[in-house]
Amino acid sequence: MKKRLGILISGRGSNLEAIADNIDAGRLEAQIALVIANTPRAAGLERARARGLKAECIRSRAMEREDYDRLLVERLRAERVELVCLAGFMRLLSAYFVEQFPQRILNIHPSLLPAFPGLEAQRQALEHGVRFSGCTVHFVDERLDAGPIVAQAAVPVLDGDDEAALAARILAQEHRIYSEAIALALGGDYRIEGRRVLRGG
Ligand code: GRF
Repeated sequence: MKKRLGILISGRGSNLEAIADNIDAGRLEAQIALVIANTPRAAGLERARARGLKAECIRSRAMEREDYDRLLVERLRAERVELVCLAGFMRLLSAYFVEQFPQRILNIHPSLLPAFPGLEAQRQALEHGVRFSGCTVHFVDERLDAGPIVAQAAVPVLDGDDEAALAARILAQEHRIYSEAIALALGGDYRIEGRRVLRGG
C-alpha cells in the first residue's frame, strides 16, 4: 500500500505540484490523500483539483490556533494520512497538532536554516549579503522553522540577483529535495540523534 500524504498549503502550490509530478513519474512511492488550504485564495487548490487530487479549503481566519488544528487533524485522520507535508502553509501549528503526528510532519523553508527563519527568507538573505543560500526540509515542532533538518540544498547568490531571481533558483532545489526528504521520512531508514537526522535506522 502506498503511504498516504496530507499536504497543507496557503499559496500557489508549486511544491505540491512537484511532489505530485514525482509521484506520477514513479520517482516517489506515495499517494496524496488530501490537500488542505487554510484560505480560499490559495491558487494551489485549483492546481490540485485540476490534476484530480482531493483538495479542500478549511478557513483559518478568526479561529483560535488549537480549534483550527483540531479540524485539520480530524480531516487528516479521516483520510488516514501518515505524513503531513507543509508546503507554503503560512501558519504555526499548535503543540496539540504536533503531538498528533510525532515526527510525521515536514516543512520546507527557502533558506539554509537556522539562517533566515520566518517571512521573506530570500529577501533576508540578500540583505544580509550571504554568498550562498538555499532551502531546508525539516521535521516540524511547535516553534517556527525549527526541528531536526532532513535535507538541505545550497545555491549561490549572484551579484545581479533580486529577490525573484534568488527565489526561483532556490525553488528549483525545493522541488527536488522535498520529495527526497519525503521518501526518507516514509522509508524510515534514519534515526534522530539530538538534532541530527542520520541515515540508517
Ligand atoms: C516556498 O518557497 C516554500 O519554501 C515556502 O513557501 C513557498 C511556497 O511555494 N515555505 P509554493 O506554494 O510551494 O509554490
